Amino acid sequence: MLSSMEDVISLGVGEPDFVTPWHIREAAIHSLENGYTMYTSNYGMLELRQEIAKYLQVRYGINYHPEGEILITVGVSEGFDIALRAILNPGDEVIIPDPCYVAYPPCIVLAGGIPVPIPTSKENDFVIKASDIEPQITEKTKAIVIGYPANPTGAVMPREELEQIAALAQQYDLLVISDEVYDRLVYGVEHVCFASLPEMKQRTILLNGFSKAYAMTGWRLGYAAANHQIIEAMLKIHQYAMLCAPTMAQMAAIEALKHGDSEVEGMVREYDQRRRVIVKGLNKIGLTCFEPKGAFYAFPSIGITRMSSEEFAEKLLMEEKVAVVPGSAFGQCGEGYLRCCYATSLPDIEEALLRMGKFVHKHKKT
Ligand SMILES: Cc1ncc(COP(=O)(O)O)c(C=O)c1O
Repeated sequence: MLSSMEDVISLGVGEPDFVTPWHIREAAIHSLENGYTMYTSNYGMLELRQEIAKYLQVRYGINYHPEGEILITVGVSEGFDIALRAILNPGDEVIIPDPCYVAYPPCIVLAGGIPVPIPTSKENDFVIKASDIEPQITEKTKAIVIGYPANPTGAVMPREELEQIAALAQQYDLLVISDEVYDRLVYGVEHVCFASLPEMKQRTILLNGFSKAYAMTGWRLGYAAANHQIIEAMLKIHQYAMLCAPTMAQMAAIEALKHGDSEVEGMVREYDQRRRVIVKGLNKIGLTCFEPKGAFYAFPSIGITRMSSEEFAEKLLMEEKVAVVPGSAFGQCGEGYLRCCYATSLPDIEEALLRMGKFVHKHKKT
C-alpha cells in the first residue's frame, strides 16, 4: 500500500536512516580494488573474528577464542536460524517473549521446534520475567530466546532480571539464545551481555551483528559466539548453506570495529534526541507510551481509540499517510499497540506526530 502512495512518512521499517559511515564503505571499496574477491574461511576471516573477540573482551569482559568460538554469519538472521537448526530436535520447545521480533516464531517452526510465547506487558516495561517463564518449562524445553534491547518495544533487560533467567537456565539445564543486535543502542542505561553473567558463557549462543550499530543492514553481516561444540554444530550447517559470509562485507566490518566507535556514538546521540521527541509527542496526543531505553522503537498503546492495531495502522496510512507497524504483527500481546520506528529525521517525526494527533483526535472514544 505504502509504495503506491505519495507523501507518506514511514515510521515502519526497522532500520537506520543513516548511510554506513564513509570510512567503512571505503574499506570495502579498497578490498575490491585489492582483489579480495574470493571465499574466506567457513568460519569467516580470522582478523574479523579476532576483532570481535577483542570487542567482547573489552566491552563485556568475556573471553571467546577467535578460533572455534566465533562464527561469522550472514546477519543475525542466519545466526538465529542455524543456532536453532543446530540445537533443536523435532518437537523441542523454545521459549520466546511476546511480543517479539517477527522472525523468532517462524524460524523456530522451520527448525522443527515449537515456540512457547511468554506474555510481557506495559506494567513490566515489556521485560520478560523469570517468574513467568518457569511455569512454562517442560521436559521438552530446549532453549530460551531473549532479545534486548527489544524489537518491537525498545525494552532493555535489567541485570537482576537477566540473573534470574540465568538461574533458571542453570536449574533446568537450558540453552539461551541471546539476540543482542541492538547492544550499542541504549540510552542512559547499561547493556548487560547475557554471556557475561557467571556460568552463562557455556549455555549462551550470543548473536550480534553490524546492521544496527553501524547502519549496515544491507551488508548482511553478523556473528555468533558460543562454546566450541555449538559453534562446530552451527558451522556444519553454515558451510553447506552459505559457505561463508561476503568477503567485502567482512573487510568493512573489520574497519567498523577498529575505527567506527565515534560514528556509533554520534548516531546514538541522534536517536536519543528523536526518542525523547517521539515519546513525549505520543504521550501528549493520548497514545500512552512507556519510555523505551534501547533500540529505535516506541511502542505506544492505542487503547484510547478502541481500534485493533491493524485497523489503526491501515486507517492512519489511508487518512494521514503515516506508516507504522501494528503491534499484533509481533505476537498476541502486541495487540493494542503500534511499533513506531524513530530512525527517521526529526522534521519527519514531528510532522508524523502532528498527523497522528489529528487522527487520534478524530477517532478517540474516551
Ligand atoms: C531483534 C532483531 N534481530 C535480528 C534482526 C536481523 O538482523 P540482521 O540484519 O543482522 O540479520 C533484526 C532486524 O530488524 C532485529 O530487529
